Amino acid sequence: MMIAEYQRLWQARKWMKKNEPFLQAWHAHLGYSLDLFKAFEKPVTTKLIAERYSYKEDLLERWVEVGLALGYLKGKQGKKIQSKKRMVTYLSKSSHQSVGILLKEMMELHIPTMLSYRHLMKGDEVSLLEEDIGHTVAETSGLLESVMFPKMTSVVKKEKVKRVLDVGCGHGGYLHRLHHKFPDVQLTGIEADAKVQKEAVEQAKGTDITLIHADFMNYIDQNQYDLVMMNNLFYYFSYQDRLKLFKRASKLLSKKGHLFIMSPLVRSKHGQRFATGFNSFMSAHEEMYPVPNEKELQSYAKKTGFTQVSCTPVIREGGWYVLLFKKK
Ligand SMILES: C[S@@+](CC[C@H](N)C(=O)[O-])C[C@H]1O[C@@H](n2cnc3c(N)ncnc32)[C@H](O)[C@@H]1O
Repeated sequence: MMIAEYQRLWQARKWMKKNEPFLQAWHAHLGYSLDLFKAFEKPVTTKLIAERYSYKEDLLERWVEVGLALGYLKGKQGKKIQSKKRMVTYLSKSSHQSVGILLKEMMELHIPTMLSYRHLMKGDEVSLLEEDIGHTVAETSGLLESVMFPKMTSVVKKEKVKRVLDVGCGHGGYLHRLHHKFPDVQLTGIEADAKVQKEAVEQAKGTDITLIHADFMNYIDQNQYDLVMMNNLFYYFSYQDRLKLFKRASKLLSKKGHLFIMSPLVRSKHGQRFATGFNSFMSAHEEMYPVPNEKELQSYAKKTGFTQVSCTPVIREGGWYVLLFKKK
């Protein structure tokens, strides 16, 4: 009896411990969303910050208390408090090194969706994605650019690419990087979200990158491209439409042109914890679709006149791959 009780206590402790990292994400997310790390950049009392921003002092005290326990803030409760430098650098809104947008996506989109599964599975009506998520998603995708970009440049160089089409280009981060590395390559991006496309145009000022606001499914283009890219795009399309994506890409590509796909993959060798979790998130939304798998993409490629050149894991822990197909 005694042993069973201890085992139960041990199990309770285990799940408590497993949830402990949530406190870190909660603290960092709150700090980012109210820009509290910035507010405490210089040593200051909690009382003063509460007065300055009209925050409830007792709740701000609690956030400070947790921050001190986690080592995100320094100082003594009741005295002046200061954010650790790295928290200001990576979690302030104004910092160009900020990763706060990722916390926003995880805490405001992913976790609420995962918590809704108990209703969704029973078929209850649940309203998800109330706010405009286009901006957040385009920003967080951009965090992968530095790792993915070398894969892209090697294709552009090796295949002597002269014209690139980026489908679902978001804020056009890849096109920017290509523009700086290959100033002579003609670059076009298509983005369905009007606000995101506008932000992309703003960011591309002073370059000759063409950024079009269009749904790729209804997009008419007489040009031919040497490289079509579809990065983090497949979960926006149903299985039938994914085949159409390949067909459309094939039509727009010159002979021996390449289709470059970057995506998390399910049922692949690497990063299945992340990929399956991401897949659960996607599947919960009516307007989103499951994460693709390699076999599925290969079958579309076969039906639309492509041969597969490679499938390379780029971020193994996240199950993120780059797939390259060549038009026959
Ligand atoms: C997850 S973001 C990825 C952005 C960028 N490709 C990257 O990897 O950083 C996908 C983008 O595709 C856009 N998109 C979705 N469906 C589209 C369609 N039918 N036509 C054009 N763009 C689309 C979305 O609005 C979103 O900005």
